[in-house]
Amino acid sequence: MQHNVLILDFGSQYTQLIARRVRELNIFCEIFPFNHFPTDLSSYKAVILSGSPFSVRSDDALHPDLSQIRGKLPLLAVCYGAQYLAHFSGGEVAPSNTREYGRANLSNIKSEEPFFEGISENSQVWMSHSDTIKKLPTNGIHLASTNDVENAAYRIEGETTYAIQFHPEVYHSSEGKQLLENFLVKIAHVPQNFTPNAFVEEIITEMKEKIGNDKVVLGLSGGVDSTVAAVLLNKAIGKNLYCIFVNNGLLRKNEFQNVLNQYEGMGLNVKGVDASQRFYDALAGITDPELKRKAIGNAFIEVFDDESHRIEDVKWLAQGTIYPDVIESVSVKGPSATIKSHHNVGGLPDFMKLKIVEPLRMLFKDEVRRVGATLGIDPELLGRHPFPGPGLSIRILGDITLEKVRILQEVDAVFIDGLKSWGLYDKVWQAGAILLPVNSVGVMGDERTYEKVVALRAVESTDGMTADWVRLPYDFLMKVSNDIINKVKGVNRVVYDISSKPPATIEWE
Ligand code: XMP
Repeated sequence: MQHNVLILDFGSQYTQLIARRVRELNIFCEIFPFNHFPTDLSSYKAVILSGSPFSVRSDDALHPDLSQIRGKLPLLAVCYGAQYLAHFSGGEVAPSNTREYGRANLSNIKSEEPFFEGISENSQVWMSHSDTIKKLPTNGIHLASTNDVENAAYRIEGETTYAIQFHPEVYHSSEGKQLLENFLVKIAHVPQNFTPNAFVEEIITEMKEKIGNDKVVLGLSGGVDSTVAAVLLNKAIGKNLYCIFVNNGLLRKNEFQNVLNQYEGMGLNVKGVDASQRFYDALAGITDPELKRKAIGNAFIEVFDDESHRIEDVKWLAQGTIYPDVIESVSVKGPSATIKSHHNVGGLPDFMKLKIVEPLRMLFKDEVRRVGATLGIDPELLGRHPFPGPGLSIRILGDITLEKVRILQEVDAVFIDGLKSWGLYDKVWQAGAILLPVNSVGVMGDERTYEKVVALRAVESTDGMTADWVRLPYDFLMKVSNDIINKVKGVNRVVYDISSKPPATIEWE
């Protein structure tokens, strides 16, 4: 990829949002910690400084080295960045004594400046800071205020340096995207050439060069990321890509066969491996959720290793790692840069001495979907809800038996098919059923029953970090509950989970 825009992260909760807004303008950008970024900036066309939970006035203020940036590259400083430029370059930052959190409206805009082209007087912006710029830095030129903030925006005379104390990246800054476009396109002249098509072309060339005639093995999960990674690599290296799709016996009803058929229909060189029994054996008698995860993880590595050893002379392991897993985020606890640990990054078992290739490592999830659409992947597959790696094992509370898996697969299928036929599936971020380790009394016909209770869970979320339960229509819940109890032998009661995350989690285990 072209290294177009560099975003320096000072630990703001919004840094990834800046990157996403920039990418929405079809401009490629990368995030680096403020104290750990490339030394050669010759391929970058602009730099953005993020916000931060720190104060420029405190002893632990974060100090970036801007010697290769200021005055040399177009620079946009957001919030902390704006205060940093002021405080350490002849201006003054002090605690603010008025409210500077939430919505505000711009005023006194210098509308003749290209920075504010198309931005309306009174434009709504989002503020989030407890310090404020009392005095502009040397050569600072005032560009805009709000009711409470005199220096909401400024630029530096003689440089292409702009600074704003609000957050253009958040949704509540209604013209924030226009402002970013003004800076990046009109002022910094960054090309808008980062499109799904361009990405596909570029990454295929890159993969061809990198991999040559080597063989690559890839584990397909049925999820969006591994599928898109496989289709891209298939285009780059064809039959030298060996895909392995493992049935761990904990997938949804008929999922293994259906998805395998779909993969074959896409022309992928894929081997379906039904290792269900191996997973059930590994799980036998285990009730602790973390031990279940470990048992499944280990069983998967064994199966995958066995299978990859069958491919003669394989050199590479491909993974569907995406950008949020890769970004080195700044620790908000201290000024040192820490690297987020994640199971996908460096998750290569020692004994599989393979080189790693990650075609999606620069993409956000929504970009992966768009690339998938460009590649002609079935929209239904691209729109699938997330599904946990340990599968139904963490939705069967307590120990796992074949009978419990069967019951839960049936219940889950009634629920998910119902969501689809009622047009609700795409309105829900994730849904599934949980088999509780509880029997309850019921009555069917003239008979007393004493059978299992299942819980249904449907949440809305953007990234799984926080979630709220979906207000599914009562009529839908009634129909699904009836269908489950009538059709699934062994279940006589259905409950709906109305807990948000936090304090609950999405999965029950
Ligand atoms: P929680 O339960 O932590 O789930 O609110 C957040 C998201 O993560 C998924 N999840 C997992 N995914 N392995 C996975 O691959 C796991 O062990 C695991 N546990 C939870 C969960 O389905 C939800 O999307």
